[in-house]
Amino acid sequence: MSALSDLCEDRTALHPAEIDHLLRLTASWSLLADLSFSDIVLVTPTRGDSRRMMVVAQARPNNRATVVNDDMVGDVLEGEQWAHVELAFDSGSRVVGEVLLDLSEGPVPAWCIPVRTRGSVIAVLVRLQGPLRGPASSYEQAYLSIFERLCSMVSTGSFPFREDAVGGPGLPRVGDGILLLDGTGRIEFATPNATSALHRLGVYEASEGRRLDELGVRSRSVERALSYGLPSLEDIEEDADAAVTMNCVPLIELDVVTGALVLVRDVSDVRQLNQMVLNREAAIREVHHRVKNNLQTISSLLRLQSRRTTQVETRTALHEAERRVRSIAVVHEVLSREPGEEVVFDEIVRSVVVLVEDTVLTPHPIEIVVNGDLGTLSTDVATPLALCLTEILTNAVEHGFVDFADNDETAVGIVTLDLALEGDYAVCEVRDNGRGLDESFSLDVPTSLGLSIVRDLVRSQLHGVIEMTNVASAEGGGTFVRIVVPTEPRG
Ligand SMILES: Nc1ncnc2c1ncn2[C@@H]1O[C@H](COP(=O)(O)OP(=O)(O)O)[C@@H](O)[C@H]1O
Ligand SMILES: [Mg+2]
Repeated sequence: MSALSDLCEDRTALHPAEIDHLLRLTASWSLLADLSFSDIVLVTPTRGDSRRMMVVAQARPNNRATVVNDDMVGDVLEGEQWAHVELAFDSGSRVVGEVLLDLSEGPVPAWCIPVRTRGSVIAVLVRLQGPLRGPASSYEQAYLSIFERLCSMVSTGSFPFREDAVGGPGLPRVGDGILLLDGTGRIEFATPNATSALHRLGVYEASEGRRLDELGVRSRSVERALSYGLPSLEDIEEDADAAVTMNCVPLIELDVVTGALVLVRDVSDVRQLNQMVLNREAAIREVHHRVKNNLQTISSLLRLQSRRTTQVETRTALHEAERRVRSIAVVHEVLSREPGEEVVFDEIVRSVVVLVEDTVLTPHPIEIVVNGDLGTLSTDVATPLALCLTEILTNAVEHGFVDFADNDETAVGIVTLDLALEGDYAVCEVRDNGRGLDESFSLDVPTSLGLSIVRDLVRSQLHGVIEMTNVASAEGGGTFVRIVVPTEPRG
């Protein structure tokens, strides 16, 4: 929750609907500060003592030096000099006084504008006007006249609007460009930035005195503002490369729409940048897709070749090579959907399990159960780890259950894969309830390719450790493999 609503709930007697009104007003806070070239604060009586007025929001102008050094939010206004704030609150009409502030050389004008909603005054907007530098220029006059009109709306309760936010992060600001329209939609005034934004939309004629539709710009938000008195935000695109965001705020007087303030921002550059980022992502995705396709082609070639040979040994070797290639393809498959430096390892585990179930033939039904997950892993870790898990699961399914429960047809072989993150390490444990490792088995002298690959990947590439042991028969027997690797790849 924001500081404003916390403050109001804790220290004022405002109702939730009134707090909401103030929240919506402060959404346009920096718009009001910029249009008035002034610091502004929002003040409301504290609970229990309506004589004590507290600051609940503050904004500094982006286009002028501030005259308020301190953060005043939460301060109770003390001293005679703030009496006119109270007066504005009580009388419900605008009062202009003077106050002395720490950063100002002399007293600065303080305009106190009552904030009304549903007929009652709930706060006072105070504009603390910094020193003027000579007579106001025409654009300063235009800004101030818009500020004036918005202030009148604040005092009658027609600003802020009930439905839509007029200001806020990401929305066009005063400095981005302003068009002021009269009640019929004619442009009374355009800042240089607004004129540049119109150039983006292909408008090179003088805009003042013309309507946007006459200039070839069709804006629904302007129509909505002028016809229904509703604010709205709209992106107007000239072509794929040029776009302008328009935030259209109706100006209302005695329930009649008398004009509109249009904040405009040329967003073409942002658009193009977004487009480039999207294109880059699509390209990376496409590359992974092609790598995956190529790996699948290689694995199909190996399969075709294995079918052509009659030698069992060659056939097995080709078959295994095919499976290894496919387990690497799994990672690229995931990356082709969600490209990045990291992958959700869970998705890879699922594919690896399916791969093992599909490619290893067993005389017994064997179930692979996965518990836990490793979250997202760097692709540098995920690819070798996927290959290791494929080998170990394959071994469990392939070797663990030779001669398994020959007399019992209902016996089911169970292979469990437990995955967990422990600090900066990924821990993978594979257990099977099969026959266990031979007496002579040693992980450090494998002559066979599968475990040599696993050992080398775990130790050299993943900088981790691997152990393989037999499970005591009291605990169900079988083989236990544990791999621990750091999740952050090193060098
Ligand atoms: N889960 C297991 N249960 C029983 N024996 C296993 C298991 N995992 C590996 N082994 C033994 O380790 C040997 C080496 O495995 P590996 O290097 O993958 O070669 P391959 O699978 O080609 O035989 C296997 O032949 C098998 O005897
Ligand atoms: Mg093997």
